[in-house]
Amino acid sequence: MWGGRFAGGPSAIMREINASIPFDKALWRHDIAGSRAHVAMLGAQGIVSGEDARAIDEGLQTIAAEYERNGVPEDWDLEDIHMTVEARLTELIGPVAGRLHTARSRNDQVATDFVLWVRDACIRAENALKGLMQALLARAEEHAGSVMPGFTHLQTAQPVTLGHHLMAYFEMFTRDRSRFADARDRMALCPLGSAALAGTGFPIDRQATASALGFDGPTRNSLDTVSDRDFALEFLHAASTCAIHLSRLAEEMVLWASQPFGFVRLPDTLSTGSSIMPQKKNPDAAELVRGHAGRIIGCATSLMITMKGLPLAYSKDMQDDKPPVFEAAGLLDLSLAAMTGMIADSTFQTPRMRAAAEAGFATATDLADWLVREAGIPFREAHHITGAAVKLAEERGLALDALPLDELKAIDDRINARVFDALSVDASVAARSSYGGTAPDQVRARVAEGRKMLGTGE
Ligand code: ARG
Repeated sequence: MWGGRFAGGPSAIMREINASIPFDKALWRHDIAGSRAHVAMLGAQGIVSGEDARAIDEGLQTIAAEYERNGVPEDWDLEDIHMTVEARLTELIGPVAGRLHTARSRNDQVATDFVLWVRDACIRAENALKGLMQALLARAEEHAGSVMPGFTHLQTAQPVTLGHHLMAYFEMFTRDRSRFADARDRMALCPLGSAALAGTGFPIDRQATASALGFDGPTRNSLDTVSDRDFALEFLHAASTCAIHLSRLAEEMVLWASQPFGFVRLPDTLSTGSSIMPQKKNPDAAELVRGHAGRIIGCATSLMITMKGLPLAYSKDMQDDKPPVFEAAGLLDLSLAAMTGMIADSTFQTPRMRAAAEAGFATATDLADWLVREAGIPFREAHHITGAAVKLAEERGLALDALPLDELKAIDDRINARVFDALSVDASVAARSSYGGTAPDQVRARVAEGRKMLGTGE
């Protein structure tokens, strides 16, 4: 395609290092869509004849049908998806195929293909996130009143509800979803027509190609356009943050499914067995989601490093933009699907969670709060008195609300029988009814708002 000034062909090594077809063939749909928009515009502007434009368009449709049926052939000599399509077009319709590349370069072509692909990947992620969020809403509603220990430092801190815990992830995924949508807002301008770097002298209509491809309009600076990969970086950033959230949820599933915790039974469909220990049911899917987050973040790091320090405009380094984006998008799709299944189909062991909340003196803060409220004791002093009660309960091997009243009174005689109303885990969570708190009513209210926000309210 570019051999005119060369005496000999490229070496085998040149061919191999140069070839992007092994991965950029994933762009074929977008490449053909971009070419069809381009040739329609060339025809409308009289840059190629209507007859040639039609022949080219029909050829492109034939190629799309072939690729749909048989996949994209991989010939390193043809370098990339753009040359592969053009070479096939030449075989199909002859030299008129050469008119397609008028007023265009592979530099604006690949930028167009890639931003179209990344836009689709954002939409996929937004939809998958919506599915996961719906699963979280359903389970949170079901467990709005199920008590479990809340942790800080992974030490039992205060009782919370499982619904509240699940809704914490709902919030993270709400932000993730808006990050993808927000990134997509900045993918609204079409690179096509920037040509190699400086624009073109042909009377093209960039608004027409932009509209045909679903963009709001054309990009404004050709140098920036052919060397800009912010859209890919933003996608990878949103994917990384989302993967971090998924990995935290996955880690909790791994912990909770372990025998010492016993908070959840994972679905068989998302677990594996051991070839040597028959009793084992391993949370492999959760572990892989946790692991994939590392790879996704690696992809983001990889493209940031590729892009740093590149002079304007296009440099071939930028061909390395696609593998990390494709890899991260694939891993994210899988991770979202796996976690959605895990949330929807796990069995939460609520009696076990409740027992753990009762075992860890999780209502100690409630005792201190009660001393402040009912006896007018300053919080710091109440904290001290409660510490003595916890010490006693620990020595006696009893829960706080099982301590005899006279022994509590011996610690501080301002304590009376009404204290027991505050010490149960149910009373504790019900009391935390501040906006966004763990009280079952608060959780139900947030679930209702979440449904409304997703447009799935009944
Ligand atoms: N395969 C190339 C890429 O992915 C297409 C652009 C080639 N442009 C060039 N000036 N050689 O970046």
